[in-house]
Amino acid sequence: MSESASHLIGGEGRSSAAAAEETFTFDGREVLLRPARAEDRARHEEFHARVEPHDLRLRFFGAVRELPQSVLERLVQMDHHRAMAFVAIGQTASGMLETLAVAQMHAEPNNEAAELGLLVRSDLKGRGLGTVLLEKLIRYCRSSGIHRLNADVLADNTRMLRLARRHGFRFVAAGQGTVRIVLDLH
Ligand SMILES: CC(C)(COP(=O)(O)OP(=O)(O)OC[C@H]1O[C@@H](n2cnc3c(N)ncnc32)[C@H](O)[C@@H]1OP(=O)(O)O)[C@@H](O)C(=O)NCCC(=O)NCCS
Repeated sequence: MSESASHLIGGEGRSSAAAAEETFTFDGREVLLRPARAEDRARHEEFHARVEPHDLRLRFFGAVRELPQSVLERLVQMDHHRAMAFVAIGQTASGMLETLAVAQMHAEPNNEAAELGLLVRSDLKGRGLGTVLLEKLIRYCRSSGIHRLNADVLADNTRMLRLARRHGFRFVAAGQGTVRIVLDLH
């Protein structure tokens, strides 16, 4: 069992092979995909500094310049029961680890539905990272017994809407300027 899978087991944490660490190739290099941990905090701040304001608006709506503390706390101190974040960690040519993308979910207490959020470093969009992270999150939520995966997406976020459509999400009428995407998992 990998280190990340073993620390998920016990207590109320969800134990799931779908949470296990895995690797994939991106840009000719190996990328690690695993649940976020406290040690990712500094790297996450560096990642966030390389996300353009436009992309932050697509992810968090409104004008977000700095990463809200609550988001950061939730990201690195997941109880892995109601919430989970996966990070894709690559290596620079000089061997430094860097966060490339993040996928998060937050489940309702009854496990009926979970909200998802995806963020890819702005200079790396459109090259498949969002697809890899969304598929990991879907596998994880399905194996955790969650029935539905949802998100509110700005109506002008065509890339996210295309990604969702390709993965079978249906679009439900939502507030002005947003589309609710819903994927039935069971
Ligand atoms: C929305 C978002 C998460 C999508 O992630 P992404 O990495 O850009 O998406 P992908 O690259 O996986 O898919 C996008 C396109 O790349 C293409 N693609 C997928 N794999 C690819 C690959 N290996 N090489 C080249 N292109 C690829 C896809 O076909 C897709 O094309 P399309 O948009 O014409 O349909 C990302 O753009 C992002 O962070 N946006 C800002 C924040 C946001 O909108 N979050 C969503 C709110 S929940």
